[in-house]
Amino acid sequence: MRLLIVGPLNGHMSFAARLVIKKGVRVGTVDTVDKALQSLRAGQGADLILIDVCCPVADLIERLQSERINVPVIACGEKGDAQAAVRSIKAGAKEYIPLPPEPEFIAAILESIMQDDSAPIAKDPIFKKVLSVAAHIAPSEASVLITGESGTGKEVLARYIQKKSRRATHPFITVNCAAIPETLLESELFGHEKGAFTGAVARRIGKFEEASGGTLLLDEISEMHPALQAKLLRVIQEREICRIGGNQTIKVDIRLLATSNRDLKEEVAQHRFREDLFYRLNVVNLEIPSLRERHEDVLPLSEYFVEKYCKLNALNKKKLSDQARFQLQSYPWPGNVRELENVIHRTVLLCEEEIIERIDALPESHATLESNKSMPNKDPIVFQNGSYDLVGRSISDMEKELILVTLDQCFGNRAHAARILGISIRTLRNKLRLYKQEIESRVG
Ligand SMILES: Nc1ncnc2c1ncn2[C@@H]1O[C@H](COP(=O)(O)OP(=O)(O)OP(=O)(O)O)[C@@H](O)[C@H]1O
Ligand SMILES: [Mg+2]
Repeated sequence: MRLLIVGPLNGHMSFAARLVIKKGVRVGTVDTVDKALQSLRAGQGADLILIDVCCPVADLIERLQSERINVPVIACGEKGDAQAAVRSIKAGAKEYIPLPPEPEFIAAILESIMQDDSAPIAKDPIFKKVLSVAAHIAPSEASVLITGESGTGKEVLARYIQKKSRRATHPFITVNCAAIPETLLESELFGHEKGAFTGAVARRIGKFEEASGGTLLLDEISEMHPALQAKLLRVIQEREICRIGGNQTIKVDIRLLATSNRDLKEEVAQHRFREDLFYRLNVVNLEIPSLRERHEDVLPLSEYFVEKYCKLNALNKKKLSDQARFQLQSYPWPGNVRELENVIHRTVLLCEEEIIERIDALPESHATLESNKSMPNKDPIVFQNGSYDLVGRSISDMEKELILVTLDQCFGNRAHAARILGISIRTLRNKLRLYKQEIESRVG
């Protein structure tokens, strides 16, 4: 994990920086936006940028966008400076951290970019078997396709393979194919040369080159556009890339891992995923069973998360009562390990006693969630108004409302929202683009 700090931040970040460095995060500091861009173009990479509002935040975000560099930006500035906060958010910053920063706030933000590198918890024989196959194939150079429902631990398994591989001490780079818009994804993967498109003011190294010598994880690969699938296939076959706008080929030495929530064979059958690429990626397939199918993992995972979140929130140790254990074991976990983790986190925060008597964070009716399997953590959507209010509204209007409400419920996570809506992420993206155009044409 890499954090890039831009600007002085009046020394406020040095404590936080020391804390995360201890946890294995690589922290880079630069004093200007120009230097930040130079470092990113050179393939030094960052998973998050923290920038002092005394630096030109809007300029950084604009230049990142025009150079198609995809890194979230968080602005930091003096506490009472509401104008700076509004300016930064308007410019596209994801968050505004008031200085001096609250340690919990910093911890929460850094936690969102940091990966838990401890070994996966596995007590159920069915998941233990998957882990032992993973450990067995890890030292090879074979591409691995990891499949499984949302929240089952695909990324956790990918990290486990990397740690057990011969490339463990080399870079491990992740690219989420669903989260990055199509035009950006190509630049993200292959990089570009100066002048490759308007805004490409300098050469930029892509993730393939950044990962060279190490491992590249293509997360949610089923969401990759067919044109890009063709380019990826060529890279896998030739083991060389060409930056966008460049004519020189560059050798890359990487091990490829990929994940998918979808059944890729079905995607191939529906002509949405290239068959030749599927076979290239699927040298080894590791299918992670859902949490429903590995019942014996529920309690060990629960105990692990209780301990983890007590520690993280500086709370005294807590224990699960028999009733709480029973509740956890009898729930079907449609959102898998991620849902279990969120439920335990909420429970730990809300429980003031040493013994967790009940899991109140569980939805009351399991039946409702059973019929709503793809929706992790969330109560089913209920429109505020009664159904009679639907009369008189157009289908496209209702569709728009459903899409926006679902997206909202998923905290803006498009991949999850698309899954719940039963549409492809591409369709979702197109719909959102349309809504944006509608608003823009109304505004002016
Ligand atoms: N075996 C495990 N041991 C410990 N933690 C786990 C395990 N499996 C999953 N987790 C935790 O559950 C959460 C979800 O895991 P992960 O992100 O790997 O799932 P995923 O299958 O990639 O989900 P998605 O399909 O939504 O991308 C993470 O916070 C991860 O740390
Ligand atoms: Mg994932």
